[in-house]
Amino acid sequence: MKRIVVTLVGIGALAGVIGTTAPVSGQSDSQAAPIYGIKLPQGYRDWRLISVKQLTGKQLTGAGGELKQLRAELGNDLAIKAFREGTLPFPDGAIIAALHWNEESSDFDNQALAAGFPKLGLQSSFAGSAVNVQFMVKDSNKYAASGGWGFADFTNGKPGNEALHEKCFPCHVPAKDKDYVFTRYAPTP
Ligand code: HEC
Repeated sequence: MKRIVVTLVGIGALAGVIGTTAPVSGQSDSQAAPIYGIKLPQGYRDWRLISVKQLTGKQLTGAGGELKQLRAELGNDLAIKAFREGTLPFPDGAIIAALHWNEESSDFDNQALAAGFPKLGLQSSFAGSAVNVQFMVKDSNKYAASGGWGFADFTNGKPGNEALHEKCFPCHVPAKDKDYVFTRYAPTP
């Protein structure tokens, strides 16, 4: 038994050095978010688009200032399939990611628009600096107490605190009829 442990540690160390450690559980080795124990899922930046949102108001931190965010919801394969087919409730293994950025604008882009359409006053904006990313992970047994969903929030790869995670599920209850998910699948243009 002892030898097996030593060998596994050896392989782990080697894989770490070479940098080819295969994703085992689909989760990165990041710290787990409180309450639901979810780690940052591997490769979520490459998932497919469900929809986009804009959020404006005052900064959540209470520090004052305006909040202007652009948001994108992405889904893993199971989530995308369920959205497209209108499957409710979502199947176990479905994960929805919500990527949040500060909304920024570029004079360069706006000048090009003004040059092309001088009379329209067009103003463009884009997803600027990253704010945070949130996840809903479906596991109807593990997360039975919260509608079958686990919630996780990460800023710079680090999970938010417990107080933040206590707020997730209660605020999603109004969307109960759609399995606690607010987002609708955006039409294909
Ligand atoms: C104040 C209410 C509120 C709280 C608190 C809240 N959410 Fe949401 N959440 C929403 C609403 C409304 C939307 C849809 C609008 C949007 O995306 O901006 C949403 C969207 C989402 C989505 C995209 C899927 C969907 O349901 O549309 C995810 C993922 C998500 N929230 C995760 C979380 C996590 C994780 C937490 C806790 C850290 C959390 N939410 C806390 C209200 C809330």
